[in-house]
Amino acid sequence: MGRIAYVNGQFVRHGQAVVHIEDRGYQLADAVYEVWALFGGKLADPEGHFARLERSLGELRIPMPMSREALTIVLRETVRQNRVSEGLVYLQVGRGVATRGHAFPDEPVPPSIVITVSSVDRAATEAKAAKGVKVITTPENRWGRCDIKTVGLLPNALAKQAAKERGAAEAWFVDDLGFVTEGASSNAWIVDSDGTLRTRDTNANILRGVTRHTLLDVLREEGVKVDERPFTPAEAVDAKEAFITGAGSLVLPVIAVDDKPVGDGVVGPVAMKLRRLYIERARATAI
Ligand code: PDD
Repeated sequence: MGRIAYVNGQFVRHGQAVVHIEDRGYQLADAVYEVWALFGGKLADPEGHFARLERSLGELRIPMPMSREALTIVLRETVRQNRVSEGLVYLQVGRGVATRGHAFPDEPVPPSIVITVSSVDRAATEAKAAKGVKVITTPENRWGRCDIKTVGLLPNALAKQAAKERGAAEAWFVDDLGFVTEGASSNAWIVDSDGTLRTRDTNANILRGVTRHTLLDVLREEGVKVDERPFTPAEAVDAKEAFITGAGSLVLPVIAVDDKPVGDGVVGPVAMKLRRLYIERARATAI
């Protein structure tokens, strides 16, 4: 983790950074977050992440803590102070500090804001991508507003831990109808047995992934058809390839679902090509 954090208006040493015990983010998960990939010290997919941040906050009636322009300056300054080039930026904005109570504070309080930066070893993540990762499946047990990127991530944390204990990198949630919704921290895709790219549509109870969105733009420009339609874990196993997308995973090939090999059980050409295309786009458009 980087050495400097931004906490409610101040740059502080990471080890000394603290929030109030009555911060509603801490007590009630009354907070939202965003994660940007950093390429060459620049924020990837800026527009998509800012737009989703504003939407998440709007849905919860939490005001933006500052303008988008000011926030961009603070995010970049936090990155600069940490001297991180390749990595991740985490931003959390919460409703603020108030004596504990479920309803919103009677008198509005200023939103809480925290920014941290961490570095990523791109050589190590490229090696991981070249090998591919395993995923497990787990019953969908999250609330009905997964489109809001809140810090209420306990089901996601438990699912990810279950994956880790089974030697997998991600857990895919499966809904009551038997369809994959998304991963604990990524969106799920397959190249189905007909060779068509498939990923869940955003009318479903999933996060509207920014990486997913950028990749869809890239695919449209490449003239590749994408079917935004659900798939089952069995269809993923029968598929030619599978992969996940997210600010952390970028585009990451999946080679097994619940220990059953996807296709030939090796990393396929489509996922690796899309990884390259996504990274090229993200590097070129980062700010
Ligand atoms: N997670 N779905 C879920 C549940 C997520 O938590 C994420 C991102 C995604 C992918 O979204 P995006 O492409 O905008 O990163 C999908 C972040 C990286 C995290 O929790 O660390």
